[in-house]
Amino acid sequence: METRERPNRLHAELLAAGSWSTRHGVARLAMNRARKQGDLQARLFSDRSTRDDPFPLYTRIRDRAPIVRGSFLAATAHHRIAEAALRSDAFGVVSDPDALPPAARWVMTRPQRTIGPVTPPSMLAVDPPVHTRYRRLVSRVFTARAMASLRGRVGELADELLDRVDPETDLISNYASMLPVTIIAEILGVPADMRAQFVTWGSTAAPVLDIGLSYREYRRVDHAIRALNDWMSGHFARLRSDPGDDLISRLIHDDNDLDENELLAIAGLLLAAGFETTVNLIGNGAALLMSHRDQLDGLEWSNAVEEILRYESPVQNTARRALRDTEVAGVPVRKGTFLSILIGGANRDPAVFDDPERFDVHRANAREHLAFSSGVHYCLGASLARIEGEEALRRLFERYPDVRPAGPARRRPTRTLRGYDELPVRLT
Ligand code: HEM
Repeated sequence: METRERPNRLHAELLAAGSWSTRHGVARLAMNRARKQGDLQARLFSDRSTRDDPFPLYTRIRDRAPIVRGSFLAATAHHRIAEAALRSDAFGVVSDPDALPPAARWVMTRPQRTIGPVTPPSMLAVDPPVHTRYRRLVSRVFTARAMASLRGRVGELADELLDRVDPETDLISNYASMLPVTIIAEILGVPADMRAQFVTWGSTAAPVLDIGLSYREYRRVDHAIRALNDWMSGHFARLRSDPGDDLISRLIHDDNDLDENELLAIAGLLLAAGFETTVNLIGNGAALLMSHRDQLDGLEWSNAVEEILRYESPVQNTARRALRDTEVAGVPVRKGTFLSILIGGANRDPAVFDDPERFDVHRANAREHLAFSSGVHYCLGASLARIEGEEALRRLFERYPDVRPAGPARRRPTRTLRGYDELPVRLT
C-alpha cells in the first residue's frame, strides 16, 4: 500500500517543476513552435483568439480530414471518428505512466505527487482492468435509479436558491454553481459549510484539464488541488471513526482495499466533476435561452438540455492514445498516436446534425451528441447532470420568464471546460 509522505520544501519545488515540465512545459514549447508554422491543433490549444469561439477552427479541422495529423498531436472533429475512438479498446487514456519517457514516469509515480483528476489513480486516467474496478465501486451508488430519486431534492433546492437571489444578480455564483455543489456535497456527505470553499478550489483547479499551462498557472492549480486533498484526508479520518450514510463513508468502510491515494482520487474526481461541469451546462443554457427567447414557447425541457449540451458542450475535448496499430472508422492510426477528440467539434458535425451551427431546442436527434463522451469512460454523472440542468433551467424560466442579461457576461478562461465565470442577469 502506498503511503503519503510530506515532501520538504525543496523536494516539493523540484517535484512541481518536474510535473509541470512533463505535462505542460514540453507541450507548451511544441505548441508555440507549431502554431507559428500554422498548425491548426496548436492554434486551438494555445491561440488566445480561439478560446472564446473555437467553432470556426473545428470546422476547418473537420473539413481538412477525418483525422488531422499535426506536429505534436492528431485531432478529429468528426463525430463518427470521435465516437469510434472513444469506444475502441485499441485506444487508452493518455496518462499511462508506462507510455511516458523514463524521467516523466519517475515524476508521475513519486508517492508525494499531487493526486488530481487527470493522473492515475484517477478513474479518468486509467485503463481497464484498473478502471473497471474503480468504476464498479462507484457505479453501485451512482445508478440511474438512485439519481432519479434525487429529482425532488434538486427541484426543491433550485426553488430555495431562487427564493434568496436578488432581482439583479450574478447567475453563476448565486445559482448555477450553488445547485450542483450542494447536491454533490450531500451525496458525498461533505459539510454544507464547505461549499463556498469547494467552489473556490474547484474554479482555481479547473485549468488542470487544459494542456500547456504556464508554470505560474500550474502552481496555482496544484496548490488548490493539494488544499482540497488535505481537507479530504482529514475528512476521511473523521469518517473512519464516525461514519455516516454517504458515499465516502461507504467507500471507506466497505471491504474495498482502496488506499488513501485511490480514495482521494475517487472522492476528489466526483466532487470536482460533480459541479465544475454542470455549472457550465446551467450557465450556457441560461445564456442560450435568453438569446433565443422565441424558442421558450412549447419547449420540452429534456430535449432542450440535450441541445444545450450539443451546442455549447461544457467539456470541449478529451484525448486518447493508440495502444496498437489500428483503424478507426476506416482510417489507419499508428500505435502511440495521441488523438485529441474535439467533442465540441464532433457535436457540430453536419454529417450527423442538420444545420449544426443553429441552436434548435426542437432538434430531433440532439441526444446523439458526445458531450458525456462514450465507451468505458462515459460520464458517470450524466443522469444527475441532466436532472440538474433540467430542474435548474425550467424553474428559472418558469418563475422568471423575463430573466435577461444585465451586463456583459465573462467567459471562463479554460479551454476544455466551456462556460461562464460571470453572467449578470435581471430576473424581473
Ligand atoms: C453537464 C455536466 C457534465 C458533463 C458535460 C460531463 C462530461 C464528462 C465527460 C466528457 C467525461 C469523460 C471524459 C473522457 O472520456 O475522457 C466524464 C467522465 C466522468 N464524469 Fe462527467 N460530466 C458532467 C457531469 C458530471 C457529474 C454531475 C458527475 C458526478 C457527480 C460526473 C462524474 C464523472 C466521472 C466520475 C467521470 C469519469 C468516468 C470514467 O472515467 O469512467 N460528471 N464526464
